[in-house]
Amino acid sequence: MAENQMMNEMQTPGAVFFIFGATGDLARRKLYPAIYSLYREGKLKEDFAVIGVARRQRSPEEFHNDLYDSVQEFCRYKVADSGDWDRFASHFEYKSLDINNVEGFHELRQQTEAIETKFGIQGNRLFYLALAPELFGNVSNSLKEGGMLEGNGWNRLVIEKPFGYDLESAERLNQEIREVFAEEEIYRIDHYLGKEMVQNIEVIRFANAFFEPLWNNKYIANVQITLGETVGVEERGEYYDHSGALRDMGQNHMLQMLTMIAMEPPSRLLPEDIRDEKVKVLRSLRPFASNEDVKQNVVRGQYTAGTYRGKELPGYRQEDKVNPESNTETYFAARVFVDNFRWAGVPFYIRTGKRLPVKTTEVVVEFRSMPNNVYLGKKYKLEPNLLVIRVNPMEGIYVKINAKKPGSETEIEPLAMDFCQSCMVGINSPEAYERLLQDAVEGDSTYFTRWDEVSTAWAFIDRIAKAWEETPDSLETYPAGTWGPEGAKRLIVQDGFKWWPVNGQEEDNVVWKVGGRE
Ligand code: BG6
Repeated sequence: MAENQMMNEMQTPGAVFFIFGATGDLARRKLYPAIYSLYREGKLKEDFAVIGVARRQRSPEEFHNDLYDSVQEFCRYKVADSGDWDRFASHFEYKSLDINNVEGFHELRQQTEAIETKFGIQGNRLFYLALAPELFGNVSNSLKEGGMLEGNGWNRLVIEKPFGYDLESAERLNQEIREVFAEEEIYRIDHYLGKEMVQNIEVIRFANAFFEPLWNNKYIANVQITLGETVGVEERGEYYDHSGALRDMGQNHMLQMLTMIAMEPPSRLLPEDIRDEKVKVLRSLRPFASNEDVKQNVVRGQYTAGTYRGKELPGYRQEDKVNPESNTETYFAARVFVDNFRWAGVPFYIRTGKRLPVKTTEVVVEFRSMPNNVYLGKKYKLEPNLLVIRVNPMEGIYVKINAKKPGSETEIEPLAMDFCQSCMVGINSPEAYERLLQDAVEGDSTYFTRWDEVSTAWAFIDRIAKAWEETPDSLETYPAGTWGPEGAKRLIVQDGFKWWPVNGQEEDNVVWKVGGRE
């Protein structure tokens, strides 16, 4: 947690939130519910307001009904009573606006000044662009031209991924918004950084004497990061077919998680110091030298028709709004190296895919094995120790160690010390967007991505994408509902390792139990 955030914990400053894309999915599923949770927990006081902005016409009543439905359906708090709800909803207004029409922004300015007066807000404005990235530049310009940035307080721009399609387009996008906003005013969201257990990685590593001394290539054999999803592309075929797993999940969430695992302890707990350390990890990623190098280290796959829990699932090419001859990957796995003193020689295996058997995000840190030619190792097969960080949807940590099988003279078996945070009664972890919205209002940019992180990540990813473009036959397939293409297994087995079971389920569907296997 950043120092300025600790100081401000109790007093989120009043601000007007502008949600551009107010009738869209993100606003409905994530943003309104997050704002309601913050309000319910007293993190937003009465000095806040929200102006929902979208092109569509919506009457105040319709907008309030949308808001109510969104909270009832997606928020972890349900509406308590109507008095409380009416007070909350009174902070919300709607503005129908064409983002290229500066005149409309002048009107928005008047509406803003009125609502600031109504709720005693001192001119702080947070512009949340839940929009297609192509529109970021135009909105930024119109905000400036329309006088929206001339309030008495701060202005902050919060933007969603994808931040560009590759380094070149990301640079263009960045230039466009930088013409209006300074880097310190830009909050680029990677919602994985708002997840409770991703933030916990820092604490687990740096607050525990028995992890940090071992956190290096002397004691760690490999690290595995899995982001599995059971869903296919759903209604997002058009976007996804253009993007693919590498750009949709790899450039952002996966590399961000990797930086949290691999970064050095920052000298101070300030956002810039933490982000400096993260970008150093990205700069230390060993770049792929050639198409052959990519082929040896990165596997890509696309799901074909399959079954999941008895249900027939279509193949990717049969999905709505997907090119029937598409070569887009819905899965990728890679072996990457962080070439610095701490991690030299340690492979990081990362994998993500749609239509896998389990929805899960997990990090497995596999420690080097005990020597197998002396003492216990000579006589027994010892499993390596594991530290598993469960990010999503289960939250928790488990540590796997070897112990004597009770009552047995001759057997040693692995057992798990399992802490399941999400199973505990009374724990209601905040959603990623709650945390991120609160941080943005408090000016804490720790868990947002800075431009140098974004651009360095793109440079790394671009090399892979280029190799795939030049070698279209590198695409493997896997039936929906399975653990991805064969190549992903080869990638890790050739190093003498294996993918550890995630969420209690191994590739061959052996169920992993505390203390051993069934
Ligand atoms: C998004 C991707 O960034 O993350 C989606 O665009 C993906 O394709 C989603 O489904 C996964 O997020 P979570 O929080 O559900 O793991």
